[in-house]
Amino acid sequence: MLPKIELHLHLEGAAPPAFIRGLAREKHIDIGGIFDDRGNYSFTDFWHFLRVYEAATSVLTTPRDYARLTEAVLDQSAASGVIYTETFLSPDFCGGRDVAAWRDYLAAIRETALRIAGQGGPVLRGIVTCIRHFGPDKARETALCAAETAGDFVTGFGIAGDEKVLAPRDFAWAFDCAREAGLRLTAHAGEWGGPDSVRAAIRDLGVERIGHGVRAIEDLALVDELAERGTVLEVCPGSNIALGLYPGWRQHPIGRLFDRGVRVTVSTDDPPFFHTTMEREYARLAEALDWDDGVFARLARTALDAAFCDAETRKAIARRLEDAHA
Ligand code: ADE
Ligand code: ZN
Repeated sequence: MLPKIELHLHLEGAAPPAFIRGLAREKHIDIGGIFDDRGNYSFTDFWHFLRVYEAATSVLTTPRDYARLTEAVLDQSAASGVIYTETFLSPDFCGGRDVAAWRDYLAAIRETALRIAGQGGPVLRGIVTCIRHFGPDKARETALCAAETAGDFVTGFGIAGDEKVLAPRDFAWAFDCAREAGLRLTAHAGEWGGPDSVRAAIRDLGVERIGHGVRAIEDLALVDELAERGTVLEVCPGSNIALGLYPGWRQHPIGRLFDRGVRVTVSTDDPPFFHTTMEREYARLAEALDWDDGVFARLARTALDAAFCDAETRKAIARRLEDAHA
């Protein structure tokens, strides 16, 4: 199995449905209606997906829940050959953006991650993420949580949520705060918004990576600009297809972006929601685009170069990549 680097994974979005149901049962919380007959998450479109996601997250109420979630998610990642992954963490869901509470949640996640890495499992880093449709005031509080806890584990700051509301510039204060704390920056853009949304994220937030970014393909001048700047796209093809952005793997633009020189990487976003895994993403791309191990090795190297980790960690992971390809 090829070793994989994943840059775009929402921690709550990676929760297996059985894990969420188990917690709901333990806590006698009614989250009825978010699963289908087969026990999978059920939603009709992206906006419904966001509501189901937030409902599922409502059963995660303690640091211990997040420790258990982190372990379940890293087990899934390891099963796909992932050796390094970055996950979006939301103080909105972890203590309601209260810094002291956030520290407790974060400690539980970090300690679990370090234990698993110490046992030879995937190495994890956290990207604190504000949620666009929760608005700029909450994003400011989220950025303060991020700034307070920036360090060896929290290494990045980002924004997710509904790209159709508000604008990147509304979140400039939060991103400036995170940047001043030494955090590296990424933003979801070019998923539900077009090329101008990607341009605005780069111009107004100063991000070095874009979550998704695939709709840049609608403006080839922008594609060339991304290639020239070396902006890395965290592409999640299975997520885009599951949410109806593209009808199928052959129509997905990742191949065209790659061929035109954009630094693309591959991630799963919210894998159980979209019936995917890193292993499945690789298999579908190999089928649809005829990509071979050489292409996948290049993608992994691009992802590692763009990873929000320190030089020593990058070197250690590079050694593991090289050993696997030797
Ligand atoms: N939160 C979780 N998954 C997301 C996605 N694909 N886009 C925006 N926000 C998200
Ligand atoms: Zn995402």
